[in-house]
Amino acid sequence: MKRLLQRALEVKLDHLDNYVHLRGLIEYGNVCEKNCLYCGLRSGNDRVARYCLSDEEVLSCARLAHELGYGSVALQSGERSDPAFIDKIEQLVREIKKIDGGSLGITLSLGEQSEETYRRWFEAGAHRYLLRIESSTEELYYQIHPKNGRHDFHRRLECLETLKRLGYQTGTGVMVGLPGQTLDHLTDDLLFFKRMDVAMVGLGPYIPHPDTPLWRLRDRIPSASERMDLTLKMIAILRIMMPEINMVAATANQTVDPQGREKAIAAGANVIMPNLTPGEYRESYFIYPDKACVKDRPDQCKNCLDIRLAAIGHKILYNAWGDSLAFTKKK
Ligand code: 5AD
Ligand code: SF4
Ligand code: FES
Repeated sequence: MKRLLQRALEVKLDHLDNYVHLRGLIEYGNVCEKNCLYCGLRSGNDRVARYCLSDEEVLSCARLAHELGYGSVALQSGERSDPAFIDKIEQLVREIKKIDGGSLGITLSLGEQSEETYRRWFEAGAHRYLLRIESSTEELYYQIHPKNGRHDFHRRLECLETLKRLGYQTGTGVMVGLPGQTLDHLTDDLLFFKRMDVAMVGLGPYIPHPDTPLWRLRDRIPSASERMDLTLKMIAILRIMMPEINMVAATANQTVDPQGREKAIAAGANVIMPNLTPGEYRESYFIYPDKACVKDRPDQCKNCLDIRLAAIGHKILYNAWGDSLAFTKKK
């Protein structure tokens, strides 16, 4: 494992240097139409207070990202497909684009949508989209999602194809250490990323949430340190397979290991998504429990990241979009 991680780091430094790109994360709202069996925001969870940020809250987060030099924001929320939501996102993307003459890059992570919706948001100025496949094995996909019309593995694949075709830098990913997940599943996930030729990948450890159905299988998953190690191996192998993609050091890593994000960076990841969501909403966005930095202010996270990354020989590239080299080269 040590040699694998070392090799992955070499490959990354050769292709991408020691830069880390930031995406200021704005958790726009936690209303969700879906009912994923692992996620705290699932529609069936009535123990979570639902919220949606106001326009002004979103825009002040975006302005803060710009002031802090983050270069990009990522707008994420539970999945909604109502027209009011679609219109609102389009309008917010346009407003964010007005900040300092379009200087902020915009990543969206808003689930499955129609081609028309994806197109409108792209035309408004979003240029990256994250949609994790969660598992590339159809059978396992249906073990972690209820099998009803709302959760359709093939629709999800189609969405990824559509996003690529429309010109988005498209990202996907999986959770690592799910109940029932084998090494073969994870191997297939890596081959899936390669076959899909995606520009970005975000993968992180699965963390059981007490208010979800999968909680009852929590004894049937690898330990936290095993999930961490599996995640690191996935990142490292993928970096060697796809040297020029952007790969996120997911915040979930830091829940299973206090040094988790730094370890992910040292294993080949090159993107971090510091949270910008206003403090009072953060505990309502518990996709999984014990999220890192819930009580930290953005300026504190910024200093903290500078120090933590310098300690492992990396530096943050401020005031840049930090696009995926795999994508820009192809273009
Ligand atoms: N543990 C880890 N990751 C989770 N996600 C959702 N629920 C959990 C959980 N319990 C991830 C999914 C989703 C992303 C936004 O968060 O992969 O795509
Ligand atoms: Fe909704 Fe996404 Fe959570 Fe699924 S993972 S319940 S789509 S927020
Ligand atoms: Fe948020 Fe360290 S990154 S406190």
